[in-house]
Amino acid sequence: MSDVKPFVLDFNLLTGRCDSGKVQPTARYMKDLVKVFADSAVAEAMAAEKNPLVYEFYELNFIPEESGDLRFGTTIIHPGKVADEYFLTKGHFHTILEAAEVYYCLAGEGAMLMETPEGETTLCPLKPGDSLYVPGRNAHRSVNTGDKPLVMFFAFRSDAGHDYGTIEQKGYRKLVLDVNGVPTLVDNPKWK
Ligand code: NI
Repeated sequence: MSDVKPFVLDFNLLTGRCDSGKVQPTARYMKDLVKVFADSAVAEAMAAEKNPLVYEFYELNFIPEESGDLRFGTTIIHPGKVADEYFLTKGHFHTILEAAEVYYCLAGEGAMLMETPEGETTLCPLKPGDSLYVPGRNAHRSVNTGDKPLVMFFAFRSDAGHDYGTIEQKGYRKLVLDVNGVPTLVDNPKWK
């Protein structure tokens, strides 16, 4: 049974930020993500030079995992590219592989790249107002294909857990690249 008491948090509808400061975002810079990008040499050079902020997320770590409560928050992916690859999040499976997640796009322009262990890839373009259901068994990675921050709200069962390791080791089968200005799925030459 959950011990969580009712509470209210604020997330700005345009920026995704908690303006009251009740919760703080976690930031991921280029130096944290060098191996995540297909062209890690370019990513390393960018990390050494300006080390741009790639994405931020608010997550409610105070919600217990064991209880199967809900965790929610926002993620903010900044615009940019490493060579032809758009800025993105690391991406993860849930430790409970069958656990689903809901996203709601608040601002910006982008896509969710999903991939099952069996190799089924789905790229869902997202614009403000779009609500996305990520079914279980799908690793999910947010990609900013626009020129403004991509802001999304998400919610998932708190016991789902995050498996980042599988993606870190194997990579995604597909990349989302800017091909003549169009976000395009291409095979990842480094996929193992
Ligand atoms: Ni997730």
